[in-house]
Amino acid sequence: MAPVVPPPSHDHATATRALKGRDLRTLRDLSRGELLALLERARLMKADPAGFAAALTGRTLAMIFEKPSLRTRVTFDVGMYQLGGHAIYLSPSEISMGKRESTSDVAKNLERMVQGIMIRTFSQSIVDELAEAATVPVINALSDFAHPCQGLADYLTMREAKGELAGLKVAYVGDGNNVVHSLAHGAALVGAHLAVATPPGYEPSSEVISWVLGRAAQTGAAITLTHDPREAVEDADVVYTDTWTSMGQEAEADARRKVFGAYQVNDALFARARSDAIFMHCLPAHRGEEVTDSVIDSRRSVVFDQAENRLHVQKAVLASLMA
Ligand code: CP
Ligand code: NVA
Repeated sequence: MAPVVPPPSHDHATATRALKGRDLRTLRDLSRGELLALLERARLMKADPAGFAAALTGRTLAMIFEKPSLRTRVTFDVGMYQLGGHAIYLSPSEISMGKRESTSDVAKNLERMVQGIMIRTFSQSIVDELAEAATVPVINALSDFAHPCQGLADYLTMREAKGELAGLKVAYVGDGNNVVHSLAHGAALVGAHLAVATPPGYEPSSEVISWVLGRAAQTGAAITLTHDPREAVEDADVVYTDTWTSMGQEAEADARRKVFGAYQVNDALFARARSDAIFMHCLPAHRGEEVTDSVIDSRRSVVFDQAENRLHVQKAVLASLMA
């Protein structure tokens, strides 16, 4: 089936204009119209990068990293460059948030120097504190609670591969972490059905589930939880997994390998999804743990499209918030 790609509309332009000056702490900050408008803007930027080459001329983004990164660092840096702006990488040892100086003082300094701040950190409360203190937009580039830029790239990738997002069945198998929280927020807005399978005790946050359920009637979204990966994957359009051990949980890695052994996405599990289902992973992947080579390297894997789409959705976010 050819993907359904709607033309740009007046409504999309109005929705992205409303994002100017705002933060992106989680996908809950967006309305359904704003999320769809960002995906549409990302589609246009991907199709015609040259058309947006001066969108952020003279603007600078500070990038605070308290954890490692490949995709996030490169896509934000390249994204700012392609929009005519500039990005500054601040390494974990450089700022030492809350230790060398307070989060609020970091905000009060940076807002005098740059037009936007991106942060990858541990606690969501650091993102919130920074956003409350700073007068310039703050973008969450991963906290322990959420990974909204990843969620946007994931829904753009699903739209490219599957067309309509409303009614899609997305199965997530693994840890109830930051990545599934953002997938869940996004599902609530676009009207997808998210089926989550985790081991007992590793479910997504109940606060996230309640938020999704609170919007389900309006958008047609659904969220279901199970401990049986086969049940979640049955007839899914998308099968998604992530690492069993997120950054900051390294001490638990051995214990988690034992708990999550039955939650590997392998050929037998993937075969329970629809025959045209796609495989997704935010990366980095731990091949042989949460996913086998046979699945991640298969024709139906779209993991590198997801990685590339980080660039396009973040350009849409940067140009909308920082213009
Ligand atoms: N998916 C993702 O955020 O990758 P990095 O940790 O490499 O930035
Ligand atoms: N859940 C993972 C995502 C990495 C992009 C982590 O937080 O480490």
